[in-house]
Amino acid sequence: MQYTFSPKALTEATQVYLVSKDTAEKHLSQSLRDSLKFSGKYKQVAYLPESNSIYIGVTKESSVKSLDVWNEVDFYELGAAVVNAVAKTSIDTFTLQGFAVAGKSQNVRQEALLRFALGMHQAAWKLDIYLADDKKKSKSLTLSLAESESALKTLEMERELAALATGVTLTREVVDLPPEAFNPSTVVDRIRAEFEGQTSVEIKVLYKDELEKMGMGAFLAVGRASVNPPVLSHVIIKPQGEVKKRIALVGKGLTYDCGGLDIKVGGFMKTMKMDMGGSATMFGTMKALSLLDLEHTEVHWISAFAENMVGGNAYKSDDILTSYSGQTIEVINTDAEGRLTLADALTYATLQNPEYIIDAATLTGACVRALTEHFTALMGNDQGLIDMLQETFVEEQEKTIHVPMSEVLREQVQGDIADLLNLGKDAGMGGHITAGLFLSHFVDQTLFRNPELDIQSPKAYKWAHLDIAGSAYNKGKNPIGVNGATGQTVRSLVRFVQKIDQQ
Ligand code: BES
Ligand code: ZN
Ligand code: ZN
Repeated sequence: MQYTFSPKALTEATQVYLVSKDTAEKHLSQSLRDSLKFSGKYKQVAYLPESNSIYIGVTKESSVKSLDVWNEVDFYELGAAVVNAVAKTSIDTFTLQGFAVAGKSQNVRQEALLRFALGMHQAAWKLDIYLADDKKKSKSLTLSLAESESALKTLEMERELAALATGVTLTREVVDLPPEAFNPSTVVDRIRAEFEGQTSVEIKVLYKDELEKMGMGAFLAVGRASVNPPVLSHVIIKPQGEVKKRIALVGKGLTYDCGGLDIKVGGFMKTMKMDMGGSATMFGTMKALSLLDLEHTEVHWISAFAENMVGGNAYKSDDILTSYSGQTIEVINTDAEGRLTLADALTYATLQNPEYIIDAATLTGACVRALTEHFTALMGNDQGLIDMLQETFVEEQEKTIHVPMSEVLREQVQGDIADLLNLGKDAGMGGHITAGLFLSHFVDQTLFRNPELDIQSPKAYKWAHLDIAGSAYNKGKNPIGVNGATGQTVRSLVRFVQKIDQQ
């Protein structure tokens, strides 16, 4: 564990105070404010060596009026700002003070504190196993609560914090790992290692021969040219009590995407180790959930892992693939491979008969162009599920925008000589939406035509799709000062599953 959390205030620890503009004006003299260049403004940090204290400003200046639900004070970012401000010092032991979120209930304070601590933890973590220089490595932090905050339910909070910190870090780590370390040949060992000894977790692995027999023609085509054969993992977390609900989480698992024969050029290949970001998101979510208790909800995580490579046996544009669902797909571009692997993984997910299916995928460049690296695109076929997810994303302050998956565009992915096309006819336009529409064909069993599947009463499953192409990985530094994998969406997915479990 990379941090320790102590419910009791530590002597010697650097005291962290959250200071609003009002508090700053009331309690700090003008000359002190001037010398510290600190007025209580959002994310301003001041270190006072004499009293071994850090002040962090929490007051957002009112900006031009807008309807931005993402403009609230973000305690995760604030926690990160504190750690980034002292990154070059040896300070690593903190006592958190003054978590009085004005006028808010105890629960809100507790959540703010948890998020602040998590932000501190994430800002201190980076992938450092390849570095020699200790100064560049992750920091281990020790956090504690001031006596005045001891009324907060700290033990429960500590458990939640540990679960989220472990889950988010796992997501970030596996995204940042190079493709030689995390690929279809190594992933199963990593999954087994993470859940080792946890009796509530069951792991099933389907290898190439089995997948061929099952008819996963879309998934297998994508992974064909790699020396690391495709593999499908299915991890199940069992609840403590009787199973009343099932949720299926599906993640895009391209451990490398060079584009295939439609090879990526001009620098677009660099960073494509992150094309398993959807799987990593679900892996981290599962890890966190496995450390928390679920009463009645069984959670299934399914990922089809492959590398999209070139070679004499690579799949080609013009190929017509038969998916696990039986629907045929004409390949228009081998770089639109994620949806092919997801098609078969989603079909497999429907066979678990879940109440909800949620997928996460670094699916389209179009999503990044439309929404930037800040935002996830949320699509789906069920308004209730979308509303519940969107509400959770707002609560967790993980930037996500609902994008309508309009029927107007469906004909874009419908083929002439095969059922579907793997790329919209207007290739460059609304690619994140046409990709979502393509996927929707694989959660609707009424469209399936693989006789081997033996589906008794076919139905369209309630499904949501998260295009995290921008939000999973930031090329520059993101709002918490992190370069590379962000771990964004794990918090919301964990919370969503907990909410369903508590319903
Ligand atoms: N993995 C990429 C999408 C992507 C792009 C993720 C940028 C993260 C950052 C996906 O497989 C892909 O290559 N999409 C292409 C398809 C197109 C060339 C047919 C795209 O959207 O640009
Ligand atoms: Zn691609
Ligand atoms: Zn891809």
